[in-house]
Amino acid sequence: MGMMIISGSPRKDGNTDLLLSILDLELQKNNISTEFISLSDKKINHCTNCEKCNGINKCIQNDDFNNLYNKILNNKGIVIGSPVYVGAPTSLIMAFIQRLTYVSFNNSNTLSKKIGGPIAVGGENGQLTTINCLVDFYLVNEMIIPGSTYWNIGVGVHKGDIEKDEKGKSYIKRFAQNLAWLMKEIEE
Ligand SMILES: Cc1cc2nc3c(=O)[nH]c(=O)nc-3n(C[C@H](O)[C@H](O)[C@H](O)COP(=O)(O)O)c2cc1C
Repeated sequence: MGMMIISGSPRKDGNTDLLLSILDLELQKNNISTEFISLSDKKINHCTNCEKCNGINKCIQNDDFNNLYNKILNNKGIVIGSPVYVGAPTSLIMAFIQRLTYVSFNNSNTLSKKIGGPIAVGGENGQLTTINCLVDFYLVNEMIIPGSTYWNIGVGVHKGDIEKDEKGKSYIKRFAQNLAWLMKEIEE
């Protein structure tokens, strides 16, 4: 039971993927198994509020959602990273977490007690509104979020810019260490 790391950037190997890969490495160093998934090549439609997920523990839409949902069920935690798009998470991430929340709600809160937290990367501004939106997703699903020495945010515009964001990288490393600590404490 490890950590799923999900990137909501449509730009593969961009700043979000890079920052998440730092988290990934740090978790592995702390003996947490991980699986990194980019939504960039996944088909995730939006929730249609059909209510048909009620009691069947899956979504009836035929796309990549159910495969990812099952992976989440089989893991202890989930970290979600998103670029800031107009002060908010990407539409890819929003479609994904809205469906996750509804399938979980309609099936006795399957996400309850999972461990994780959000990460946001922006060129200038809006990282806090983005992670706050994602924090609400964790909290409404009864998930548990450890902190870091600052918020889990990075700064970068062009691909690779995040490499120069020493502060952002340090917050994410610390966040990974705190995630690993919490996962071990809870397991014991
Ligand atoms: C449609 C769009 C909207 C964006 N909106 C913002 C924004 O509101 N604030 C900001 O700081 N950066 C914004 N950006 C810049 C991205 O957040 C930035 O380039 C980030 O590094 C992209 O992450 P990625 O490399 O993981 O894709 C926007 C970029 C795009 C394409």
